[in-house]
Amino acid sequence: MAIPLRIAASILSADCARLGDEVRKVVDAGADVIHFDVMDNHYVPNLTLGPFVCEALRPHTTAPMDVHLMVKPVDRIVPDFAKAGANHISFHPEASEHVDRTIGLIHEHGCTAGLVFNPATPLDWLMHTIDQLDLVLIMSVNPGFGGQSFIPHALEKLKAARKIVDGAMQRSGRTIHLEIDGGVKVGNIRAIAEAGADTFVAGSAIFAAPDYRATIAAMRAELAQVTRP
Ligand code: DX5
Ligand code: ZN
Repeated sequence: MAIPLRIAASILSADCARLGDEVRKVVDAGADVIHFDVMDNHYVPNLTLGPFVCEALRPHTTAPMDVHLMVKPVDRIVPDFAKAGANHISFHPEASEHVDRTIGLIHEHGCTAGLVFNPATPLDWLMHTIDQLDLVLIMSVNPGFGGQSFIPHALEKLKAARKIVDGAMQRSGRTIHLEIDGGVKVGNIRAIAEAGADTFVAGSAIFAAPDYRATIAAMRAELAQVTRP
């Protein structure tokens, strides 16, 4: 099943004083998805955006809002993000007391659900969850900050995750996305795609560059050359 490759702009690196404009500008420049990083200064050592910011941004775009929860506990905030216009909600298994229940909660609130793997988190968590998931997110940095360097062993993990995701898609006929988050640049996006990712979160690579359109076009040109086994 060929899944279109998608670029998800992480607005963590956008100009927060003009977030609505930034969202419109980056989608106009070719981003497929808005990646919305939620940090709580508890599960991760940083504090960012809450549901009211998601709600305020919703009228600025029809692009899917991909909410990445780096918060503990998880369940309390899920309905608030669904109400605020999130399309997709991902969470870290270490942050939820009952992973299966959290996945169900996200679905009950009308969103698709993703499970996020930190660099040292084993893919074993997929064993009893993959048939409920809509997305698997592999972290290629430790969560908490934009602008960090890509951890190379994430490529091996992506390959392993690709096999699990492909197996589940074949069994069920459902689409399950495989997303990568952290340190994605024009220079490494092709290798990341060849390792199996179909959704690429990019924050500083897009927002620190003067021309969003040129950066996204350069990423797409790299993706056009991808060869997969
Ligand atoms: C890190 C966040 C990422 C971050 C990516 O915890 O989850 O989404 O914004 O930023 P870059 O692309 O700059 O690594
Ligand atoms: Zn993220």
